Amino acid sequence: MQKKWRILITLNIPEIGVRILEECCEVEVNKKDVALSKKELIERVHDKHALCCGAEDVIDAEIMDSAPNLKIIARYGVGYDKVDVEAATQRGILVTNTPGVLAEAVADMTWCLLLGLARRIVEADTFTRNGLFKRSGPRALMGMDVKGKNLGIIGAGKIGTAVAKRSLGFGMNILYYDVARNEELEKIGARKVELKYLLMNSDFVTLHVSLSNETLHLIGKEELTLMKETAYLINTSRGQVVDEAALVRALDEEQIAGAGLDVYENEPYITKELLKMKNVVLAPHIGSITKETWDTMAVTMANDCITALKGERPLHLVNTKALK
Ligand code: DGY
Repeated sequence: MQKKWRILITLNIPEIGVRILEECCEVEVNKKDVALSKKELIERVHDKHALCCGAEDVIDAEIMDSAPNLKIIARYGVGYDKVDVEAATQRGILVTNTPGVLAEAVADMTWCLLLGLARRIVEADTFTRNGLFKRSGPRALMGMDVKGKNLGIIGAGKIGTAVAKRSLGFGMNILYYDVARNEELEKIGARKVELKYLLMNSDFVTLHVSLSNETLHLIGKEELTLMKETAYLINTSRGQVVDEAALVRALDEEQIAGAGLDVYENEPYITKELLKMKNVVLAPHIGSITKETWDTMAVTMANDCITALKGERPLHLVNTKALK
């Protein structure tokens, strides 16, 4: 079959997706574990019909204009806050993402951070490796039960719901805050509350909103002050949802007990103070990184790309207005 189209994939996605695309496209993949600079992106996308991008790639009007044949921008992942969707729509470029597919993986990651904080597992690992295990059950590593505690979920979409469902097995009470009601959550006993109430009453506050003007710095100095001194904050959504400087101050001043972070305000840069804090568990934005999830994301993205290139409507279209 003649390869009609050319696609640039800015990150090293699983082969299963590449093979689907190769049936009808010339595929160029950035196999390095470093994101492309804007200059590199422009150089490499100029003759492409499709662009598949990762969480850190900023895809603005300038990049779109440097690729006159571009028909589709496929976000390999769910959050498309770095893609200028309006600019794409104006240019008739379709934008897709892979919603739902990664909800379970991100929910698992949220629970890794939550339990890691409650049972101080990173500190325990360091303690053990450093040869400090002199007798069983060192009190220095005293943890906290999760049973009977309040889990405050901010953002009750697919990921927030998957996080809530897991908490039932741990015997937690669920509070949630969202602009919309989530009946599925309420059926499993979750209570919809105001943000202030959630912050004041939760033992674990976990963030699952997408980044927008409304959610930028949703958690800042004031909100952190409302949280219990014994509470933990977990963020697997977007770094900019939390005012990182305010978080560092709150942790430093022991206004909250700790934080579990998979995302950062200016990632891959991480505020240095966080790196030194013991009551913080840090991960490098790996919420969706599991073999199964990445394979499914790759297939979803590839199928959407081919559909769009054929001039049809892809399943996970973000900007319907771009359709002519
Ligand atoms: C997403 O899908 O938005 C995740 O943050 C990983 O990119």
